[in-house]
Amino acid sequence: MARRKKIYEGKAKILYEGPEPGTLVQYFKDDATAFNAEKRATIDGKGVLNNRLSEFFMSGLNAIGVPTHFIRRLNMREQLIRSVEIIPLEVVIRNVAAGSISKRLGIEEGTALPRPIVEFYYKDDALGDPLVAEEHVIAFGWANQQDLDDMVALGLRVNDFLSGLMMGVGIKLVDFKIEIGRIWEGDYMRLIVADEISPDSCRLWDMKTGQKLDKDVFRRDLGDLADAYTEVAKRLGVLPDQGTMSGPTLVN
Ligand code: TMP
Repeated sequence: MARRKKIYEGKAKILYEGPEPGTLVQYFKDDATAFNAEKRATIDGKGVLNNRLSEFFMSGLNAIGVPTHFIRRLNMREQLIRSVEIIPLEVVIRNVAAGSISKRLGIEEGTALPRPIVEFYYKDDALGDPLVAEEHVIAFGWANQQDLDDMVALGLRVNDFLSGLMMGVGIKLVDFKIEIGRIWEGDYMRLIVADEISPDSCRLWDMKTGQKLDKDVFRRDLGDLADAYTEVAKRLGVLPDQGTMSGPTLVN
């Protein structure tokens, strides 16, 4: 059988042609990059964890009526997704100051924000994904006002869903990034959540200890990234807790 066609390769994922029109296969690599790929490593098992975690978050969103590209997981590293036209913006939602907002505005990391803040970054590696205002988005035609309103609404719904999910397992959702794509159903265009939702694109802090359980572990050399992601997956029940898998038990 002919090798399927590669559509796009990014830093952490590969997209292949899907089995039916309008679908793609999304493959999760073990590669980790930070600071616009200045820092790179291969982290054994990261792709498998992110495939499972993104499946978990996106299928939960689908179930509560927040549309996403996720159709179903195919295997350890691949999922079937709807093909979308990606809007060239990273939509970042912040609940607590950390990372670039702390640097840019001089707010101490860990400071709760007065309300969730939604930001847009223009996806352009050569420019280092700069922060842009809604004015730029509309003037340069990346999206119109209706799209912007829909993107903010989607971002806030994802925020409420993920924050609640994380709080239930003792994790604070500090901030996260989503990407949004367009799909057409006849003449009707809709915006849906695309790309991935995983600890690569979130900041997750243990609520008791403040321990970081996200890609900052890699960006800031804080320990083993796969261990951090495994902890998130175990708490969410996405991976079996090895501690309780003590081997075969006798059936009476
Ligand atoms: P920032 O504080 O560096 O702007 O990051 C905000 C959030 O966006 C954080 O959860 C990490 C995520 N993020 C990405 O997913 N991809 C990126 O390229 C960057 C810079 C951040």
